[in-house]
Amino acid sequence: MNEKDIINQWDNAAKVYSENQRTAPNNLTNWKIIKDTIKDFTNKTILDAGCGDGFFSNEMKALGAKVYACDGSKNLIQIAQNDFQDIEFKVCDLTKSLPYADRFFDIVVSSLTLMDIGYLDTFFNETYRILKDDGKLVCTIVHPCFFQAEWEKDANGKKLWKKVKNYWELNEVSLNFWGETTHYHRPITWYSNKLKNSGFVIEEIKENPDNVDDFSPIKPHQKRVPLFICFSCLKNK
Ligand SMILES: C[S@@+](CC[C@H](N)C(=O)[O-])C[C@H]1O[C@@H](n2cnc3c(N)ncnc32)[C@H](O)[C@@H]1O
Repeated sequence: MNEKDIINQWDNAAKVYSENQRTAPNNLTNWKIIKDTIKDFTNKTILDAGCGDGFFSNEMKALGAKVYACDGSKNLIQIAQNDFQDIEFKVCDLTKSLPYADRFFDIVVSSLTLMDIGYLDTFFNETYRILKDDGKLVCTIVHPCFFQAEWEKDANGKKLWKKVKNYWELNEVSLNFWGETTHYHRPITWYSNKLKNSGFVIEEIKENPDNVDDFSPIKPHQKRVPLFICFSCLKNK
């Protein structure tokens, strides 16, 4: 699937995605992991890369960050700009050069976007370019170990464990949560090698929110098998 067609899918899914996501428990879990990773947003200049409908961009702004945001889908950017008028949103394709100056950002956040993009080399190199020398890239993806694995359930339907197969095989699959979208499976090693080759050093990995037992949106089986993984990466300069 080429990037133009993938972005087109997101344009078609935009309305349903936005209506569902803002209150979805899984989305709140993902946001809590990002918040627990960044901790202090005050006066940080942040790019929300692949911002979708801008929900997290606005949350980061509310926590004191100066936020810029971009996404490939013009329909999602329209929803974002309409709902959050004091943030600068741009339509831009993350597989191409990014429209921001060198060493401009303290943090680039990319929430649940990288596994939806077919080609990432430019993104990692461009992120490195636009970060300050002590800046960091914080990105979440659905957890590659478990996302495509089916649950084994007991006779009462209780989720017991996940059946993992073909973890090492790169694949492109079509999903249908909000309309058709495209997902790329890559092992964790694939991501860590890409990050390393672009100059990043992974300083922390988080797979659940902090104090997960007190975090009610997350379901019991998700505490046993994580849904997401977050990489916090330093620009190694
Ligand atoms: C699962 S959504 C995540 C949106 C938002 N960050 C969130 O967490 O709700 C994936 C996003 O990736 C964007 N996307 C996919 N391919 C892209 C590309 N080549 N350039 C820019 N954005 C892209 C989609 O438009 C969509 O907003």
